[in-house]
Amino acid sequence: MVNIVEKLYNQGNISDEELRQLIETDDAQAAELLRRYADEVRQKYYGRKVFLRGLIEISSYCRNDCLYCGIRRSNTCAERYRLSREEILSCCENGYGLGFRTFVMQGGEDMYFTDDFMCGVISEIKEKYPDCAVTLSLGERSFESYKRMKEAGADRYLLRHEAADEKLYSRLHPSELSFSTRRECLFNLKKLGYQVGAGFMVGAPYQTTESLIADFRFLQELSPQMIGIGPFIPHHSTPFKDEKGGTLDLTLRLLGILRLMFPKVLLPATTALGTIAPDGREQGLKTGCNVVMPNLSPVKVRKKYDLYDNKICTGEEAAECRMCLQRRIESAGYEVAAERGDAADFNI
Ligand code: 5AD
Ligand code: FES
Repeated sequence: MVNIVEKLYNQGNISDEELRQLIETDDAQAAELLRRYADEVRQKYYGRKVFLRGLIEISSYCRNDCLYCGIRRSNTCAERYRLSREEILSCCENGYGLGFRTFVMQGGEDMYFTDDFMCGVISEIKEKYPDCAVTLSLGERSFESYKRMKEAGADRYLLRHEAADEKLYSRLHPSELSFSTRRECLFNLKKLGYQVGAGFMVGAPYQTTESLIADFRFLQELSPQMIGIGPFIPHHSTPFKDEKGGTLDLTLRLLGILRLMFPKVLLPATTALGTIAPDGREQGLKTGCNVVMPNLSPVKVRKKYDLYDNKICTGEEAAECRMCLQRRIESAGYEVAAERGDAADFNI
């Protein structure tokens, strides 16, 4: 098993069969070597830097009905809110003061946020904070919409592919959603010049080693600048409420593999990882991660952006989250980078 890790480290790729073995092994020595190499490769391109992204959760309305997600439209218990333009801008002002140089506007697929509205907010943020990157995470939209928001100044777009295995994709999503549309959206975003983030949940219901291999192969084809993965965590008012969640062990394993396959990629230690283990994000940082996304949303809405149970950081002010993460980053042996943090191979 150690040989497979060596090969992945040296060549940046391994066969499907080797991937299968590495995903499934319980060899602790191989897992430790994977972690060590992942940290070495991350340090080669990014040193000890960890980039911060201020996450602004702009809407909990969603037209979709993804089976795993707490803000799916058929969850009538979900509390819905949307932030106004003024509220979004005040989050940015707060975040800029805290040292953030990337703002991520994330939300459900809420058509209240028209292209006109989004373009207005994006250009205002870029005008006020020309040294900052604007990232969007608003789900599937038309080519024209992505184009207009790019022209308004958006730099990056996060859209997890969720599952590259079409059968799995359709078991996780309502019938009107398909992997082929998701894939087209991701390639459209790339074509438009966005720095693109894809990714998936670890341990989602019905996920198999084969479907994970399909995820790695799809990511190799897409070659995104960012890859977001975190454990699946059941939400109590979704059809998956009684399913098992993803584990820390497998998530760390996959993070290590991703770092070796994609040496220059931006890899967040996600909030979901911090939710399933108190030191989940620190362990992520030690296994190749180089990004964290502190919550910048107004405290009054945080509990309402309720994707999964027991989500952390829902009671804290932005400044508290910022300081908490700084402590965690430093305790893990890394340092906060006060910069935009573009991918090492992306020319802006
Ligand atoms: N557990 C973990 N992650 C989830 N997401 C949505 N619901 C859950 C859940 N129950 C992830 C999806 C989505 C991202 C914003 O959050 O992968 O793309
Ligand atoms: Fe949000 Fe610790 S990171 S409270």
